[in-house]
Amino acid sequence: MDTKLLYIDTIGCQMNVYDSEQFAKGLRPMGYTLTSSLDTANLVIVNTCSIREKAQQKAFSFLGRLATLKRKKPDLIIGVGGCVAQQEGSRILERMPHLDFVFGTYAVGRLPKIVKEIELKRSSFVDIDNSGGMDGLEPIAIVPSAEDNQSPTRFVTIMRGCDNHCTYCVVPHVRGREVSRNPANILREIRNLVKSGVREITLLGQNVNSFGKKEGSCSFPELLFQIHDIEDILRIRFTTSHPKDLSRNLIDAFSGLNKLCKHIHLPVQSGSNLILRRMNRKYTREEYLEKVDRLHSICPDIAISTDIILGFPGETPEDFDKTLDLIKKVEYDNLFAFKYSDRPYALATGYPGKVSESVKKERLEAVLDLGKEYAAKKNRSLIGSTELILVEGFSKKQRKSVADRKINGRQWSGRTSTNKIVNFTKGRGFYSNDVISKGQMIRVQIDKASVHSLSGTVVEGGEKVSVPTKQRVFPPEFVEA
Ligand code: SAH
Ligand code: SF4
Ligand code: F3S
Repeated sequence: MDTKLLYIDTIGCQMNVYDSEQFAKGLRPMGYTLTSSLDTANLVIVNTCSIREKAQQKAFSFLGRLATLKRKKPDLIIGVGGCVAQQEGSRILERMPHLDFVFGTYAVGRLPKIVKEIELKRSSFVDIDNSGGMDGLEPIAIVPSAEDNQSPTRFVTIMRGCDNHCTYCVVPHVRGREVSRNPANILREIRNLVKSGVREITLLGQNVNSFGKKEGSCSFPELLFQIHDIEDILRIRFTTSHPKDLSRNLIDAFSGLNKLCKHIHLPVQSGSNLILRRMNRKYTREEYLEKVDRLHSICPDIAISTDIILGFPGETPEDFDKTLDLIKKVEYDNLFAFKYSDRPYALATGYPGKVSESVKKERLEAVLDLGKEYAAKKNRSLIGSTELILVEGFSKKQRKSVADRKINGRQWSGRTSTNKIVNFTKGRGFYSNDVISKGQMIRVQIDKASVHSLSGTVVEGGEKVSVPTKQRVFPPEFVEA
C-alpha cells in the first residue's frame, strides 16, 4: 500500500482534538500517516469550530489559503470537518471550489468511506447527514501504532451533543442531541490507552453530569468509580460540568476518589441573575455560589476555573459589576472570557440590546485582568510547597532550545492535580543516574510562580510513585473490536 501523508488542522475544543485523532485512526488502514508539514501532505483535513464568529473566520481564512497549495499540487485532497462543516454544508464548497469534501460532526465514522470515494472519483462530496444518528460515536477500530504513543494524557469523549439550550450557543445545532456512549466501550477504550502508556485521561462531554441518564446506563459518578478501578490510570479529569446539574454525588467524588484530580471547570457565564435567565442557564448566582461553597467544604484545595461571556445582549454596567463581584467571591484559579458573538440558529442572535464592540472589549479586558490577579495569587501561594506532578514531556522552553541547539540542562513539564502547569529541572546531583520519563509521577518543590505556570525542582528524597517507567508493548493480538 502506498504511504500517503495526512495533515490535520484542528480548531476548537477538546472534542475536536479527540475527533481529529479519530480521523487519523480511521484513515490509517488506507495508508495515511500523519505529517506536521502542510506542504508534503496528500490529504488535508481542517476540523472546524463554530462557537464564535472568530473561530469560524479562522477556519475560512485557513481554507482560503489552501487554494495556492492546491494550484501547485492539483492532486491534493482537501476536506472540511467539524462544526462549521455541519453548519454550512455545501455552501462551503460553493464559496471555495478548491475544496473536495465537507463532512459534518455525525460523519466521523464515515470519513474513510468518503476519502475512498474522492480518491476514486475525484468529484466533490458533502456529508452532513444526521438521520442515522451518531455514526462516529464509538471510536474507530484501530491497530495501535507509534502515533498513539506520544502523550501520557489523553481525551476520551464519553458523550456527544447537548440537550441544553443556552440561548447564545450553536453547539446543540451543530452537534445535535445529547447521546452517551456505552460505559463498557469507554472502559475498554481507556484500558487500551493505558496499554499504550497513557496515565491520565480527561473525560469529555458538553455536560458530563447528565451522562447515561437518557440511556439508563450508569451515572457519571458511577462511571468515575469504574474508571478509578483501572490499574495504572493515575489521574482522571473531566470537562464540562454544567452548574445546574452538578450533583452532590459528583461533588462527593472529589473526596472519595483519590485519582480524581482536584480541579473542576464550572462555567458560570455571568454573575447577573437577569442575564443568566436570558441565557437560559437555569441556575442563579446564589445557587452557583452555594455549589462552589460545597465543593470547597468537601475538597478545600480544589481549583475552580470558569468561562465568562461579556456583552451578552442587554448586559448593563450593573450586570457586568455583578460578574466582577462573583469573580471576586469565587477567586477562580483560571478563567476563560469571551466577547459575546451572534451565532446562526442561536436564540440570542435575535435579542435586542446588542452591546457595542468597544464596550465588550473593555469588559473583556477588565475580566481578564481580574482573572490574572487571582490566578497569580493562587500560583504564588504554592511557592515553597511540594507538588505531585505527572510528567508530560519536555517543557516548551526545552523543546525550543533543542530546536535552537542550545541545551542547558533538561527542563520537563507536567501538571499538578489542580491543573497548574509546572516546569521543572532535576535539582543539583539528584536523580543524576536516573531517567525522568513521560507518564511518571514525581514530587517537585515549587520555587517560582507566574500567572500561567509554576517552576521548581525535583525534590531530594521525594520518591517516584510506582508506575512502570518503561511503556508496555502492546500484545500483538490487541485490536479494538
Ligand atoms: N458545554 C460547555 C461549553 C461549551 S462552549 C458549557 O456548557 O459550559 C465553551 C464556551 O464558549 C462557553 O462556556 C461560553 O463561555 C463560550 N461561548 C459559547 N457560545 C458563545 C457565543 N455565542 N459568544 C461568546 N462565547 C460563547
Ligand atoms: Fe452550549 Fe449550553 Fe450546551 Fe454548553 S450546555 S454546549 S453552553 S448549549
Ligand atoms: Fe467549537 Fe464545536 Fe467544540 S463549535 S467549541 S468545536 S463543539
